[in-house]
Amino acid sequence: MPEIAEEKKKIVLSGIQPSGDQFTLGNYIGAIRNWALMQESFDCLYMVANEHSITVRQVPAKLRENTYRALASLLAAGIDPQKSIVFIQSHVPAHAELAWILDCYTMFGELSRMTQFKDKSSKNADNINAGLFTYPALMAADILLYQADLVPVGADQKQHVEIARDIAGRFNGLYGNTFRLPEPYIPAVGAKIMSLAEPERKMSKSDANENAKILVMDGPDDIMRKFKRAVTDSYGEVKRGEDKPGINNLITIYSVATGKTPEQVEAEFEGKGYGDFKRACGEAVVELLRPFREQVEDLMKNRDYLDQVAAAGAERAERLALRTLSKVQKKVGFVPRP
Ligand code: TYM
Repeated sequence: MPEIAEEKKKIVLSGIQPSGDQFTLGNYIGAIRNWALMQESFDCLYMVANEHSITVRQVPAKLRENTYRALASLLAAGIDPQKSIVFIQSHVPAHAELAWILDCYTMFGELSRMTQFKDKSSKNADNINAGLFTYPALMAADILLYQADLVPVGADQKQHVEIARDIAGRFNGLYGNTFRLPEPYIPAVGAKIMSLAEPERKMSKSDANENAKILVMDGPDDIMRKFKRAVTDSYGEVKRGEDKPGINNLITIYSVATGKTPEQVEAEFEGKGYGDFKRACGEAVVELLRPFREQVEDLMKNRDYLDQVAAAGAERAERLALRTLSKVQKKVGFVPRP
């Protein structure tokens, strides 16, 4: 019955790497906060992308700890494991299996054009490994296994969702309809939170400068200090402008943290200086992150619960993933295991 098919909710999948000790305010605003909101309208899967993390050298014990913290962070951001499927990527072997197949349908030239590859290989010149290069095929596998319609990501991941779509289209062209074509779903505000120290650059987990990034577990004193030091400009007016990346960024952050529009923020601070505005930004972010931080701390004391969530999530994810994987294996000509 077509009516029923039309009523089916769209499928959403996204992932976050557990590299670095914790997430940044950029990850929170650009990604996981929105993931929680999407649960009401869509069927959602959210994944800790630990397989992606080893493209850059990790300390194994830290990676394990960070994987748990990432899982706890997704839950603390409001992702409800009863509503959404929450899982750890390496628990579902189908990701690596489909990634291999997709590697064979992904072109060297396409991968060479990926800005993240260019960026990460220049930063890790002594470890430009094949995984770093083929990373987008693994990410395509993550998305395509679940027949996702929408992939909520920050602006920096848009290119990777587009290549997933291209790979899916190529495969469908060769073998008939196999994968649904995914679309990036980029938030209107906060898709690219910038560094507080160099506001022309993205706020990044891997930035060595502690003052450049707000970490989601930072306490009030750290948050206030970092905002106080945030780089602005010499105009001295809380107003957006093309050549004002620092203030534009703070206005975005403050408006997301308070739910006010950028216009309302400008009106609120008319005639006031940057000192007042930075203090208000700090206070708003302290309040935004306080309940989140407290919940992550509680959840981290309860490993058994995190293990239960991961186990249940992996089982549900795997059931869906295997449907797509077996279809793909059949199409490419693999002999089914007798
Ligand atoms: P990752 O772990 O680098 O980042 C997770 C999410 O946070 C967003 N983000 C930002 N948003 C706004 N401002 C910032 N400064 C900022 N920094 C990061 C990212 O855009 C992302 O949405 N390859 C992915 C993880 C991944 C994935 C997937 C995503 C693996 N498989 C499948 C979607 C679907 C990554 O490294 O994200």
